[in-house]
Amino acid sequence: SERTLVLLKPDAVRRGLIGEIIGRIERKAGWTISALELRSLDQATLEQHYGEHQGKPFYEPLVAFMASGPVVALVVEGERVIEGVRALAGPTDPIAAAPGSIRGDFGVIVRENLIHASDSAESAERELKIFFPSAV
Ligand code: GTP
Ligand code: MG
Repeated sequence: SERTLVLLKPDAVRRGLIGEIIGRIERKAGWTISALELRSLDQATLEQHYGEHQGKPFYEPLVAFMASGPVVALVVEGERVIEGVRALAGPTDPIAAAPGSIRGDFGVIVRENLIHASDSAESAERELKIFFPSAV
């Protein structure tokens, strides 16, 4: 099976949606949460995590937002979990995300789109090393 890195972004934590979002992940058959932590992200961690977006116009506000409050970081394990959590989350822009998806149900603003999930096996491996080095 696979492992993926999930972050519940500061908007999800501030709005009291941790349980709602984790519940959706938890209820998927055969998926397991193998690590979970509430933490505040520093600049170095965010630069590593979102390095692919450095130089883009949304990068600086994205990093500031991600540092604006604690996030919940999780490792989720299971069958096709990388693709699966992305499907639960929905597309990046919450207005384009279908109702029933996490972003579609709870989001409006592109930056405040509630959840991060690794977008490929390579990203998952890279991101898990950043957030949970002892679990990799
Ligand atoms: P993550 O799971 O957070 O990585 O989202 P994603 O994979 O759906 O999108 P992507 O990696 O392309 O962008 C990372 C984050 O930057 C997004 O979740 C948005 O919060 C923000 N972002 C991406 N594109 C835009 C944009 O065009 N405008 C703004 N304001 N923010 C953007
Ligand atoms: Mg991404």
